[in-house]
Amino acid sequence: MSNPRWLRRAGDPRLEYGADYNPEQWPREVWDEDVRAMRDAGVTIVSLAIFSWARLETAEGEYDFGWLDDAIDLLHANGIAVDLATATASPPPWLTTKHPEILPVDQKGNTIWPGGRQQWRPTSPIFRAYALRLVRTLAERYKDHPAVVAWHVSNELGCHNVYDFSDDAAAAFRVWLRARYATIDDLNEAWGTAFWSQWYSSFSEVLPPRQAATHPNPTQQLDFKRFSSDALKDYLIAEREILREITPEIPVTTNFMVMGETRGMDYADWAAEVDFIANDHYRLPGAQTLDELSFSANLTGNLAGGKPWFLMEHSTSAVNWQPINLAKKPGELERDSLTHVAHGADAVCFFQWRQSRAGAEKYHSAMYPHAGRDSQLFRDVVDLGSRLKSLASLAGTPRTRSKAAIIFDWTSWWAVEQDSHPTEKLKYRQEALDWYTAFLDLGVRADVVPVGAELDGYDVVVAPILHVMPAPLSAKLTAYVEGGGHLVTTYFSGIVDENDHIWLGGYPGALRDLLGIRIEEFGPLLDGDTAELDNGLTGTLWTDRIALAGADTTVLASYKTGDQAGRPAITRREVGDGSAAYVSTRLGADGLVPVLGDLLARAGVTSELPAELRGRVELAVRGETRFIINRTEEPVDITALGGDDRTLTARGVAVLRA
Ligand code: GAL
Repeated sequence: MSNPRWLRRAGDPRLEYGADYNPEQWPREVWDEDVRAMRDAGVTIVSLAIFSWARLETAEGEYDFGWLDDAIDLLHANGIAVDLATATASPPPWLTTKHPEILPVDQKGNTIWPGGRQQWRPTSPIFRAYALRLVRTLAERYKDHPAVVAWHVSNELGCHNVYDFSDDAAAAFRVWLRARYATIDDLNEAWGTAFWSQWYSSFSEVLPPRQAATHPNPTQQLDFKRFSSDALKDYLIAEREILREITPEIPVTTNFMVMGETRGMDYADWAAEVDFIANDHYRLPGAQTLDELSFSANLTGNLAGGKPWFLMEHSTSAVNWQPINLAKKPGELERDSLTHVAHGADAVCFFQWRQSRAGAEKYHSAMYPHAGRDSQLFRDVVDLGSRLKSLASLAGTPRTRSKAAIIFDWTSWWAVEQDSHPTEKLKYRQEALDWYTAFLDLGVRADVVPVGAELDGYDVVVAPILHVMPAPLSAKLTAYVEGGGHLVTTYFSGIVDENDHIWLGGYPGALRDLLGIRIEEFGPLLDGDTAELDNGLTGTLWTDRIALAGADTTVLASYKTGDQAGRPAITRREVGDGSAAYVSTRLGADGLVPVLGDLLARAGVTSELPAELRGRVELAVRGETRFIINRTEEPVDITALGGDDRTLTARGVAVLRA
């Protein structure tokens, strides 16, 4: 779809507003109040039928579409559009009873039983046949319904079933491996099977990395992660192809989970398979909760190539799945929503419309809470609807690129957190987030971009723990620096190739020449141990025994204490107009602020915010519109920005238009 301006709405731009809607959980008379309240709240779209398979196909081949027809007609009559799910997210009991062989199997060989949701094997041919038949039936039935403006494939593919170790998975893994490696010799080479007597004589001997006596082969593990992401992508494509065949004019999406530690699906690789990007995001408690939201929204916007995307789910207030589920504070609902919009979302949707009365999610907030309309939450929902309406003209405007970028790479994430490494404490996404927080603290916008992104145009690129470095990637980074770019990278970057084989000759083999350093041994730190630097900062987690390799490498900071005392800790090598810097320890967000500040100054990258606002607000830009997001719990005076607003309320967002 070339025009992501939602869909049917050309000439009538709007930011979509809505939720998952599960009318099947409620008596028919409740639906009338639902649509009245939706209209009052300014709801424009709902996602329907996400978990409805059991109520749509009540027995094999027997359908009950009456209630769904009714719901769609009712919504349409009230001017509310439908993002129609394919209803395949969770198979019904009759199917798992008849075909228990569609149930996933965990690493230890345990069956994942029905009773929750998403209990299906991504590679099960039986599941696929039943699911695709339902998709076809639904698409045929609703293809001409004017309410249906988008297709929602399954739901959060891989949320609970990304890793399946069943026999179906084993068979599909072998097919995948045959496609990746022409011969078993190539697989043996890539997996390093000369080690521990793992040499295979045929593909038929290969298994998923099931529970083993000790560390399973690391490349087998990494390939299984790649395969598992691909298996779900393949399933997504299978549903999409049916939808495209029957309704070529209706765009297809699925809701990604770019959030927190959800990592099984390589969304950079999936992005091209959907007609528009949709994401679900839930905040996790902690000091960086807001920065994490911004980071995720930012990355989602860049997965969408800068084009507008669809926030398919977030929460109006508490969720139900954390150990302790906090309600949102005043202002957070709007601030969270507008932060997504600031990063390019053209839709703000929630899980879910009406808070359930029964089931595992009855304590999860919704737009229409248990308390009903007479509640602060519903009033806030109505207010948010009006605020979004006032921003309607923004729809279709791409997010504006920054001068700096942070590279994000699923393969490195997967690889660095595997077992049998120098430390098991390393957290890939946390390191990337710490750099992002440092950018925010400095008031400098940075794009979070997938590793395949074009780097031209960025003055500074930070590549935290970019561990897996195929030769073309190191060539790309080298060309970037030689072209005048300023690269910053960290500990445990550039260490292995795509097969998780070490680049030899001293670490980091793939970046050694570019960085002008050579590391003979890693120096991970025990929990609680620290390494002091001579610039007053303190490192944790990791150090390196760095030797300078080349006269043109400058030491920006050295270790003062610990095993590396006297050796370089942070280095920088100038390469023509560009440079390549290396940070060898974990400094945390606070420690990175002065380091990044210095590196940005050397690269000539400055904040677009007045000095007194840096760190206190986040700036995000879409075309002529600037979003000023309060990062503090206090009001902030934004007179200096020259808009009509003088004060940004605690947790508030100002939208300034040129
Ligand atoms: C998502 C899911 C929704 C709902 C929500 C609760 O993972 O797609 O169906 O469960 O979480 O936060």
